[in-house]
Amino acid sequence: MSSGAYIVEGYKVGEILNEGKTKIVYDHPSYRKHCVLWSKDRITAGNGVKAHDIEGKGEISNTTNGQVFQLLKTAGISTHYVESYGSKAFIALKCQMLPIEWVIRRLAFGSFLRRNVGVPEGYRFSPPKQETFFKDDANHDPQWSEEQIVSAKFELNGLVIGQDEIDIMRRTALVVFEILERAWQTKNCTLVDMKVEFGIDVDGNIVLADIIDSDCWRLWPSGDKRLMVDKETYHVLTDVTASDLDTVKQNFTWVSKQLDDIIPQKDHLVVVLMGSASDTRHSEKIATSCRSLGLNVVLRVTSAHKGSEETLRIVRKYESVIQNLIFVVVEGRSNGLGAVVSGSTNYPVINCPPVESNSSLNFPSELGCILNPEAAARHAATILGLGSFMVWSKLRAKDLNSFITLKKADKKLLKEGSSDWI
Ligand SMILES: Nc1ncnc2c1ncn2[C@@H]1O[C@H](COP(=O)(O)OP(=O)(O)O)[C@@H](O)[C@H]1O
Ligand SMILES: [Mg+2]
Repeated sequence: MSSGAYIVEGYKVGEILNEGKTKIVYDHPSYRKHCVLWSKDRITAGNGVKAHDIEGKGEISNTTNGQVFQLLKTAGISTHYVESYGSKAFIALKCQMLPIEWVIRRLAFGSFLRRNVGVPEGYRFSPPKQETFFKDDANHDPQWSEEQIVSAKFELNGLVIGQDEIDIMRRTALVVFEILERAWQTKNCTLVDMKVEFGIDVDGNIVLADIIDSDCWRLWPSGDKRLMVDKETYHVLTDVTASDLDTVKQNFTWVSKQLDDIIPQKDHLVVVLMGSASDTRHSEKIATSCRSLGLNVVLRVTSAHKGSEETLRIVRKYESVIQNLIFVVVEGRSNGLGAVVSGSTNYPVINCPPVESNSSLNFPSELGCILNPEAAARHAATILGLGSFMVWSKLRAKDLNSFITLKKADKKLLKEGSSDWI
């Protein structure tokens, strides 16, 4: 074994880089860009004032965290999560962490009420309320303004944390909350609030980091505070008995079980129907855009003029197997297929004829066309997003990532010469 590598509970790890209240960060035994995040069996509250061990808690936390990060990665959020590493740990991008907790709240509870006297419990924030706290146990994590974060001039892996970086983190934190809020809605649970942290990886990228588990949010089944299943169930305890700790463990286990099947499989379909194989190029553009939005797509060729019965048979078949269904219809010349399909189904039909082949754009009343293939795909995604939180989340994350790309491009240009003015 090379120097600096150890075996912990059968797993190879490097030196301890950092040990917190509930986790240990080990260096990766061989790869410099990675680290190993190990969850302890420890639960704490009040910045460590109250602390207990719950056997199996590390494993439950690690499972929950893996499920949440997998979900966020599937949606397209940039995170530190690489892969699971045994039952209590996972491999992550090794980061220098910004010592800030980003809190996002849909409903007003807990410390917000104490700091904002007069606001009633359960006040609903739209958009969600965002707050930042400086991680400093000794001073009880004081609330910090964005101006304070900018002024601290944190430099992490070569990146100075300024307004642009804060804008990216604030917006990412919001999108993460919105995605998880919708995911939990599918389990009839209300995500009341949560906190996240960000790190800067070895290459200088901002990534969502730390752990997201039952310690990090308020989560209420059926929207009922009395049914809470998060760390608050530990926080409220005064005399902590073994049976109390067992209840907390059961709550955390329940949460992890809910997350098992939360990423939907085969929950929607876009059927691109084209009138002739000569429409393939245009149809492929639509399919490619759909796939880039994470949509499931099939392409079919059918002519409404030369085989109307076959066209209807295809339509009926898809109607009978999937509910979240959209037809995108592509036909040059007469554009008859679009009109026939639109007139014979109650599922959404987006007509997207190739303009260059002189389609008739003159449609029967109530039916119209979208001429741009990318716009047709996005339109399909927005409709399917109504019934699928993951489709919605992928669109949301895509828009977030465009925002980040623009910010970075702007910053680069500013650096290259035109920064004298501001
Ligand atoms: N990808 C990462 N790389 C390096 N450190 C990380 C990463 N993700 C989280 N951390 C750090 O690991 C520690 C987690 O341990 P934890 O017990 O939660 O500590 P704390 O009590 O400081 O919150 C925190 O200091 C956190 O900033
Ligand atoms: Mg922590």
